[in-house]
Amino acid sequence: MTVVPTLSPSNLLAESGLRPELLAQLTHVRALLAEELAAAPGDNEACLTCSFQAEDVLLLKLAQELRPNIPVLFLDTGYHFAETYAYRDRIAAEWNLNLTNLLPVKTVAEQEAEFGLLHQTAPDRCCGLRKVEPLFSAVANYKVWLTGLRREQARSRTALEEVADFKLPSGVTVRKLSPFADWTTRDIWQLCAAFEISLLPLYDAGYTSIGCEPCTSIPTDPNDPRSGRWAGKKVECGIHIQADEIQPAGQAH
Ligand code: ADX
Ligand code: SF4
Repeated sequence: MTVVPTLSPSNLLAESGLRPELLAQLTHVRALLAEELAAAPGDNEACLTCSFQAEDVLLLKLAQELRPNIPVLFLDTGYHFAETYAYRDRIAAEWNLNLTNLLPVKTVAEQEAEFGLLHQTAPDRCCGLRKVEPLFSAVANYKVWLTGLRREQARSRTALEEVADFKLPSGVTVRKLSPFADWTTRDIWQLCAAFEISLLPLYDAGYTSIGCEPCTSIPTDPNDPRSGRWAGKKVECGIHIQADEIQPAGQAH
């Protein structure tokens, strides 16, 4: 059964001013979400991972049109910017989110006491402990996983598909949806503006891709929005890489 999204009058008004191409993209994403969520009808069959960057809050808004209580998973590494935590809390309250903060096994203090500053000495290990493990074990509980990934974001994402099976190390496979796969940054920003979504204030400070504070800076290359992530030491934290895609050390993505 296809679920017809409920649209508010203010949304319809905002959409009447969109350029036709963007309106068509929006219609396509809504149809895709409606079809995929109809195939996973249980409240706990589909989840959305949310970093609270622009793509994710926009996707969240569209997903909530169909399923207001969709489970939202935030990887709380303990290393996020204060602004990210404050924005998360504000959106969670204003949008009545069904939010789960995924915590790593060790607190930041415990990890630093045992291993020192892994984000400086071994960022892959730090991401493994604080992002990949908690996310993979949480996502395994769902059939469908929604993300705000886009091809344009990185070379490592150019082959990204809108819908793809994602095999977790446990052997469980989830259906991973990236409805904005072929959207540009401009598309995302225009639609956020049309919907009057106030974004994470760090964008106003010049950040273009925002993760943990120790591993995020203003982009060093104006043509590469992710050039401020991990100071160029790596390009992916690992949550979007399947076990059989991991390349031998030394080979860049
Ligand atoms: S990352 O892998 O480099 O951190 P990026 O910031 O581009 O990823 O975000 C891509 C997608 O990964 C987001 O759309 C979201 O689904 C997921 N993601 C990234 N960071 C988090 C987070 N802290 N909590 C939940 N999901 C996240
Ligand atoms: Fe650690 Fe940095 Fe990865 Fe965050 S992004 S988990 S601080 S290495």
